[in-house]
Amino acid sequence: MEERRTAVILLAAGKGKRMQSEVQKQFMLLNGRPLLYYAASVFERSPVQDVILVTGAGEIEYCRREIVEKYGFTKIKQIIPGGKERYHSVYEGLKALERLGYKETDYVLVHDGARPFVDADILERILADVRTYGACAAGMPSKDTIKLSDEEGFARHTPERSLVWMIQTPQAFTFSIIKTAYDKMMGREEYQRGVTDDAMVVETMTEERVKLTEGSYRNMKVTTPEDMAVAEAFLKLNGER
Ligand code: CTP
Ligand code: MG
Repeated sequence: MEERRTAVILLAAGKGKRMQSEVQKQFMLLNGRPLLYYAASVFERSPVQDVILVTGAGEIEYCRREIVEKYGFTKIKQIIPGGKERYHSVYEGLKALERLGYKETDYVLVHDGARPFVDADILERILADVRTYGACAAGMPSKDTIKLSDEEGFARHTPERSLVWMIQTPQAFTFSIIKTAYDKMMGREEYQRGVTDDAMVVETMTEERVKLTEGSYRNMKVTTPEDMAVAEAFLKLNGER
């Protein structure tokens, strides 16, 4: 049987508004290396074949020099400009993969460049689940109780905690499932409001079920200033393992 290819769309085209820093968070230094380096190095040492790095049009040269060339990442095949919202950036990545000849049965992982602590164990579970289910997303059971509020900020509903997951990336799909879902959504503006992850696009636009795969509590997204201190602490812990 013909080998199926697996690609990662590695997202680093955000502005990082909530970080309120001079340098965009994906390029902030963590132990002397840009945050984005950490996820890129995990994929470099993984079974995936191709990485498409999506970044701001103004950061392509920086990424080529300070990330790809400096650390010798061979799996980053293209660095392309992203778009205004996260889903625009993902769509640019999907179109790049189509140009690289990705076919319906191949696999695509989408990963936030702002999640430095994806690791080989998470990847192994994600790659296994995408082969079995066709669509999956990393996540962890919520430690906190989650409430949905009404418009005035009063508690309206408390979902059963055992069913509440905090969703992470990587999220993985067959090329056919994710491309079909995105093509549909990009043609319908009413479906684009409030889209924050890829599983959501598949849930909304197709009949496919998305398996929730065990991620890890360390697989945090660096979002606000205090997250950098947490990331430094995790980096130390990882080094001590
Ligand atoms: N991202 C992207 N293109 C965008 C928006 C986000 O590639 N138009 C990427 C970010 O670089 C990040 C990931 O998607 O790696 C998750 O997004 P988020 O944490 O929201 O990052 P930002 O959008 O940069 O931050 P903020 O929402 O605080 O502005
Ligand atoms: Mg954002």
